[in-house]
Amino acid sequence: MPTVFVLTGPNLNLLGVREPEIYGRTTLSDIEDRCRARAAALGLGIDFRQTNHEGQLVDWIQEARTAAGIVLNAGALTHTSVAILDALGAAGVPVIEVHLSNIFRREAFRHHSYVSSVAAGVICGLGAHGYELALEAIAQLLAAAANKEER
Ligand code: DQA
Repeated sequence: MPTVFVLTGPNLNLLGVREPEIYGRTTLSDIEDRCRARAAALGLGIDFRQTNHEGQLVDWIQEARTAAGIVLNAGALTHTSVAILDALGAAGVPVIEVHLSNIFRREAFRHHSYVSSVAAGVICGLGAHGYELALEAIAQLLAAAANKEER
């Protein structure tokens, strides 16, 4: 079964208690459950991980070079990390960028993302549902690639 890495960055371990007016009451563990159910329905496996450390995220993105794709919410590192951009560039697998909040309705410093320039797609502002949509997008990209190979 193809495995998708679902990677989540700094402070997202605090979901549910962190600024609920922005991020809602859904916990990361709820999101993981929803991703597992959605992935199973799509015939995908997932490796779901969270870290507060930039280097750890870089290591996991490098590891994901053997995965079917990456769903990434890099948190604040989205707006700062060239190291994550470079790791994603080297990964060579489809990347879908996810943000729970609509970063374009927020402070100007959140409007630029290093991840977006290497992502196949970006989903933001739809809360936990965004992660499920990202898994659907990866499934669709994999199906399209397989179709192309058959022809
Ligand atoms: C976030 C948006 C980022 O700007 C912020 O730093 C986060 C969470 C989101 O999911 O909405 O930590 O990635």
